[in-house]
Amino acid sequence: MLKPKILVTGAGGQLGSELIPALREKVGNNNVVASDLKELDNNQGPTELLDILDNNKIETVIDKYQINEIYHLAAILSAEGEKNPVRTWNINMDGLLNIFEISRKKGIQKIFYPSSIAVFGNQTEKINTPQNPVLIPETVYGISKESGENWANYYYQKYNLDIRSLRYPGLIGYQSLPGGGTTDYAVEIFHKAIGQQKYTCFLNRDTRLPMMYMDDAIRATLELMDAPKENIKVRTSYNLSGMSFTPEEIYLEIKKYIPEFEIEYKPDFRESIARSWVESIDDSKAREDWGWKEVFNLSQMTQVMLENLR
Ligand code: NAD
Ligand code: SER
Repeated sequence: MLKPKILVTGAGGQLGSELIPALREKVGNNNVVASDLKELDNNQGPTELLDILDNNKIETVIDKYQINEIYHLAAILSAEGEKNPVRTWNINMDGLLNIFEISRKKGIQKIFYPSSIAVFGNQTEKINTPQNPVLIPETVYGISKESGENWANYYYQKYNLDIRSLRYPGLIGYQSLPGGGTTDYAVEIFHKAIGQQKYTCFLNRDTRLPMMYMDDAIRATLELMDAPKENIKVRTSYNLSGMSFTPEEIYLEIKKYIPEFEIEYKPDFRESIARSWVESIDDSKAREDWGWKEVFNLSQMTQVMLENLR
């Protein structure tokens, strides 16, 4: 195995901002190239402006740094994606196929591809959703992630390309802001609780969704990527579970620390996206195959979020 030389696409987003420092701590600052469509500041290692639709530039960057692992984060998320479905499809799918095809040609050793609970749809079992349920997603983002999972499996089966993937729940952290998803409310609510002590939620009070604290998500990613290849039995994408809660439940948890905090509910188009997803996830395959176990529940996460944001 070569020493990892990692390229991260979409590194300036909510996940990348926290994954980059974790990867750099693990393999060294200069061995992780952070890339994005937008300029990245305050970086401790190499950065590149990189549009994932630009094949030539992807190849140039891979050659320049002798990249042998890719974390392909760049994508348009669920709510933002509905504003321009065809563009979302192009970025999410053409970008992914660029990465897979170039990786195959250049012999990239390992690829991480984040999928999402957005692959689930109205016909999916909502409670304790199994690993292989009916997948008929309602958003273009979900369609692209579901197709991406099948492409990942295809490239593994046909070319033995070692692509590993997680169906992340909504991610919540204090170091970065979310980028246009349906689960964004669960980050915004903390900022508003501390700032204005008032929040207008775009989902209904009782819409339950699977969520995960960012530290757990980063650790899951690193553990999945470190696992021996033969342990990775799911080559579409692993179900992954942290916690599940409704807007009212997280509001009441925050209110324990900020008693004057108020919430009102004004559901918009994101409510029907959220309703098409599921409430809780069965991630027993991840637990069996590579030993996944979450650490953070709602109350632990709330405490850490408030401590750090203050
Ligand atoms: P984000 O929207 O915060 O960041 C995405 C990044 O991709 C942005 O910095 C953006 O500039 C970049 N980007 C967009 N178009 C690009 C292009 N053409 N070329 C290069 N870069 C481009 O998203 P995130 O929350 O950091 O999510 C990262 C990945 O994780 C995505 O694939 C997303 O689907 C997945 N995911 C995230 C969550 C979550 O809750 N944040 C949940 C499930 C899955
Ligand atoms: N958190 C993401 C979204 O809401 C799920 O992938 O779009």
